[in-house]
Amino acid sequence: MAKPRVFITRVILEKGLGLIRDFCDMDLWIDGLPPPRQVLLERVRGVDGLLCLLTDPIDGEAMDAAGPQLKVISNHAVGFDNIAVAEATRRGIPVGNTPGILTDATADLTFALLMAAARRVVEAERFVRAGLWKTWSPALLLGADVAGATLGLVGFGRIGQAVAKRATGFGMRILYHDPSAGPLPGIPAERTDLETLLKESDFVSLHVPLNSGTRHLMNGRNFSLMKPTAILVNTARGQVVDPVALHAALKEKRIFAAALDVSDPEPLPMDSPLLELENLIILPHIGSASRTSRERMSLMAAENLIAGLKGERLPNCVNPEVYRV
Ligand code: DGY
Repeated sequence: MAKPRVFITRVILEKGLGLIRDFCDMDLWIDGLPPPRQVLLERVRGVDGLLCLLTDPIDGEAMDAAGPQLKVISNHAVGFDNIAVAEATRRGIPVGNTPGILTDATADLTFALLMAAARRVVEAERFVRAGLWKTWSPALLLGADVAGATLGLVGFGRIGQAVAKRATGFGMRILYHDPSAGPLPGIPAERTDLETLLKESDFVSLHVPLNSGTRHLMNGRNFSLMKPTAILVNTARGQVVDPVALHAALKEKRIFAAALDVSDPEPLPMDSPLLELENLIILPHIGSASRTSRERMSLMAAENLIAGLKGERLPNCVNPEVYRV
């Protein structure tokens, strides 16, 4: 019997890729950069399944290009803002994602960024390498205290809660804003409105999905509510922060610093004014980039893909309403 045809938009880790290779007739895009739009539209033609990354916009046009036989779209990410899920649902196509397995890796990186920004680790390292370190000095590179500070979590889902658990070890006061998440047993976190959180927090960390309600949530008004000593951490999605407002807030020292794993756009162009700022740390979207997490992501994405091809329910489906007939 002919194997189902699939297009995989990038080389993922072998754990998942091996499964797909065994089960499918696999067309694999081996370039390090995402397939250009036209190439994507051509390569999806006639496939039964598509495994894509957060860098691949999968909209109605891409689904039409694939054709009516398309049975499943599997995203190699927990976030799925790159996929027009409503369009997929309308066509009865289940969409898979990879929740849970990258929670700890992303929470660890959030904390690494929080601490690096607080204690100016990246700036201090640059200082040494530039040959500027002449002596120990009482006021050299003074930063913010982490222990006992107030942490405001915007979004209190899996990753926000995992960051809260880490923060308790530092004796932090924890506030969270999330209309849909309740308290977490054993974690003394207080629920607040966004305004109170922004006004009272020493660290504001973003953990919301990107959607029409969260795009540019951190805008000029919301930056103006933050303390001048506060630090913004974003490991969610770049577009949750308005980059122009962020630049102004950092440049005019309306906040102390920002530490980002994600940006708008990605990658940040080399002539972005944000890259000129000393009080900004920027990483290339590596929140889930631990060996175990990426292995598990590849496996989970492959399992979602294969389940969809077999006509089985996806183990992790973002639009389960496709199964309600
Ligand atoms: C995700 O999974 O959504 C992260 O942004 C990348 O792992």
